[in-house]
Amino acid sequence: MGIEVVVEGLTKSFGKQNIWQDVSLTLPAGEVSVMLGPSGTGKTVFLKSIIGLLKPEKGRVLINGVDMVNSPEREIMETRKLFGLMFQDGALFGSMSLFDNIAFPLREHTRKKESEIRRIVMERIDIVGLLGAEEKLPGEISGGMRKRAGLARALVLDPQIILCDEPDSGLDPVRTAYLSQLLIDLNAQIDATMLIVTHNLDIAATVPDNMGMLFCRNLVTFGPREVLLTSDMPVVSQFLAGRREGPIGMSEEKDAATLAAEQTNGHGYATGPRTVVPQLEPSPGMPVRQAALRRRERVISMMGQLPEAARTAIMNSYTPTLDGGRR
Ligand SMILES: Nc1ncnc2c1ncn2[C@@H]1O[C@H](COP(=O)(O)OP(=O)(O)O)[C@@H](O)[C@H]1O
Ligand SMILES: [Mg+2]
Repeated sequence: MGIEVVVEGLTKSFGKQNIWQDVSLTLPAGEVSVMLGPSGTGKTVFLKSIIGLLKPEKGRVLINGVDMVNSPEREIMETRKLFGLMFQDGALFGSMSLFDNIAFPLREHTRKKESEIRRIVMERIDIVGLLGAEEKLPGEISGGMRKRAGLARALVLDPQIILCDEPDSGLDPVRTAYLSQLLIDLNAQIDATMLIVTHNLDIAATVPDNMGMLFCRNLVTFGPREVLLTSDMPVVSQFLAGRREGPIGMSEEKDAATLAAEQTNGHGYATGPRTVVPQLEPSPGMPVRQAALRRRERVISMMGQLPEAARTAIMNSYTPTLDGGRR
């Protein structure tokens, strides 16, 4: 099972520029979480802070008792081995075949025999659906395939926590849908804790168990997916609807005058009940997601603390339908 990640009161600035402050959340073990946020809100900085590559000036990130902010560098390096990272651009070496790219962490960090490396790499290539493409160079394949290769490489060291930075960037909607399904299938197969940073609304609506949003230097909210998906906070509903009207402006925050003008011009924010589309299920033949079973218990036990709209959406999702499946 994946490992829980506890973030407590995290604050990060570069010089005088505060990126976000007092961010606290828990990524439940083995569950899939998404962090949404407009561009420039510090999502990538957040991921780098979790693995200890950037140092927030306040707060802690606890993984197996190791604080990725304040522990000795040796312990941080050791704990970093639990992570698999999928970067925004795939970050593949252009002159190496996909096979060699994916094998790279094994050759770099382990003393495994070449036959063992081949077995592991081919298994990961199979998981991400790239069988047959292993001898291709990154430049010879599509962006979607490069993403998959980046994901395969993130998997070779058997990570217990997987961080994906905008896995959808540059993908068309169909490729993004395939990638969403792949992430859920992957979670069913390896039960790792996953954090996906994105501003893609389809991924947000269909993939995660939990969701949060960064805006205006703060974590707006973090919790079961239904909380954000039914939230009537203006910033959340604007973002999820992809609207211009609302507190998010061209360069992040809109100034107060524009906002006031919008409201007097009758652009009320539509905050009626939104439909929550069902979360993706693993593909046929995949194991049951253990995280989904754990999450169900966890969410039901916290029902009392959730807003009404979220409670209703959760109850609906856990109501069996006539065909025996979940809605
Ligand atoms: N190493 C760095 N030094 C100084 N500023 C940085 C550094 N990395 C990121 N930033 C700044 O932090 C802000 C958030 O960046 P980022 O995390 O990349 O946003 P996002 O991933 O949400 O689009 C940006 O204003 C960026 O310029
Ligand atoms: Mg980024």
